[in-house]
Amino acid sequence: RKDVGILAMDIYFPPTCVQQEALEAHDGASKGKYTIGLGQDCMAFCSEVEDVVSMSLTVVASLLRKYNVDPKLIGRLEVGSETVIDKSKSIKTWLMQIFEESGNTDIEGVDSSNACYGGTAALLNCVNWVESKSWDGRYGLVVCTDSAVYAEGPARPTGGAAAIAMLIGPDAPISFERKYKASHMAHVYDFYKPDLASEYPVVDGKLSQTCYLMALDSCYRQFCTKYEKLVGEQFSISDADYCVFHSPYNKLVQKSFARLFFNDFMRNCSSVDNDAKEKLLPFANLTSEESYQSRDLEKASQQVAKHLYDIKVQPSTLLPKQIGNMYTASLYAALASVIYNKHNSLAGQRIIMFSYGSGLTSTLFSLRLHEGQHPFSLGNIASMLDVTAKLDSRHVTSPEKFVETLKLMEHRYGAKDFETSHDTSLLPPGAFYLTKVDSMYRRFYDKK
Ligand code: ACO
Repeated sequence: RKDVGILAMDIYFPPTCVQQEALEAHDGASKGKYTIGLGQDCMAFCSEVEDVVSMSLTVVASLLRKYNVDPKLIGRLEVGSETVIDKSKSIKTWLMQIFEESGNTDIEGVDSSNACYGGTAALLNCVNWVESKSWDGRYGLVVCTDSAVYAEGPARPTGGAAAIAMLIGPDAPISFERKYKASHMAHVYDFYKPDLASEYPVVDGKLSQTCYLMALDSCYRQFCTKYEKLVGEQFSISDADYCVFHSPYNKLVQKSFARLFFNDFMRNCSSVDNDAKEKLLPFANLTSEESYQSRDLEKASQQVAKHLYDIKVQPSTLLPKQIGNMYTASLYAALASVIYNKHNSLAGQRIIMFSYGSGLTSTLFSLRLHEGQHPFSLGNIASMLDVTAKLDSRHVTSPEKFVETLKLMEHRYGAKDFETSHDTSLLPPGAFYLTKVDSMYRRFYDKK
């Protein structure tokens, strides 16, 4: 099978959002901390009529409709999510409602979860299925859906919410270079959700940043070694047209790209020019532990990598900066941003993708882009994503309203026997929404 990968994509995010500038002032943080310090513009959040199930129902129905895909042609459906609504029943089973209607119940796959990595696990499973002897000729479908909410405090501005659907099959415009892939997995307590009565994680913010960068380094080193063995040439960031990162907030993405640049410098890559070499030389003898703590290295590497960041990374930052951390959907929203911004010039190019899930699991992998054939072409994916219109039609709410919504959701988390407001005034036509949770904790959804 040739060019197995992503044939089609769609994204749904809640129409409600809060501006980081207003949130900063509301929280009493210093001016610029969320917007420049974290690099974020806006944060989407679910109102009381939306959740990870409604968002994923909406995005799956929308993808099938827009690309005119018969639900009977789906043979595998995998969901990545870390938002726990039920400890046993997978989100995939709610999505089966869409397929049962068309008489298709023969669909493999369940949910995958490990923090923000579940979507990547689901995607790799689907790609492997299409490439395997088990494949029955039908499409795979991957859904990443999360609502990221944090308790009051410094992590709160790094929330977000969205669902992404990706159709998987051969001859894809976004195909996997499956030989070029490296993972780093380890046991750490950087971000986890041990309190089953709360939707909020326990998070060691500083440790999670360091773990993320250490995982990136480890994946990149192994990726380069594997590439060099297979191709016989050194790999450097000049071999990738775009670098797309899991994006908890934009500042970490800036630091990540600078870190790849520093790695290239340490490996003596010819792509690092003399001026950059001179500026990074003072840091060449740091131990790896010291290098994660050095503010001067962080600044110097960000500065010398800045011109390449603008070309290779900035196009991926549109949705993550506007929506916030979407956990499992975050990396794929960044990919969708590149497709949306650059679809005209992507054919033949390479994108490297870094997926990180706390705890921790991480993989660096490589995609090769092709123009594709309608409806599965880069141009059509870009127009179906319709990012600008979706962003422009959002409703900006006050920080007070945002905090009030989170308080209500704290009460509703794990609760039974309640009706929602049924207020769908802000939802787009075709969006699914939660109507009630009955006395047996069963959840009911309707479609606008
Ligand atoms: N103007 C400009 N920049 C400012 C200002 C200001 N007024 N105030 C602070 N800053 C900068 C800081 O210098 C810092 O930038 P730097 O790292 O380049 O120095 C940045 O803003 C953040 O400030 P901190 O004081 O470091 O922020 P704090 O520790 O309060 O919180 C954190 C940040 C740790 C990221 C927190 O939001 C968090 O815990 N988030 C959740 C964890 C997370 O997302 N981890 C990422 C990987 S794991 C995952 O994906 C869930």
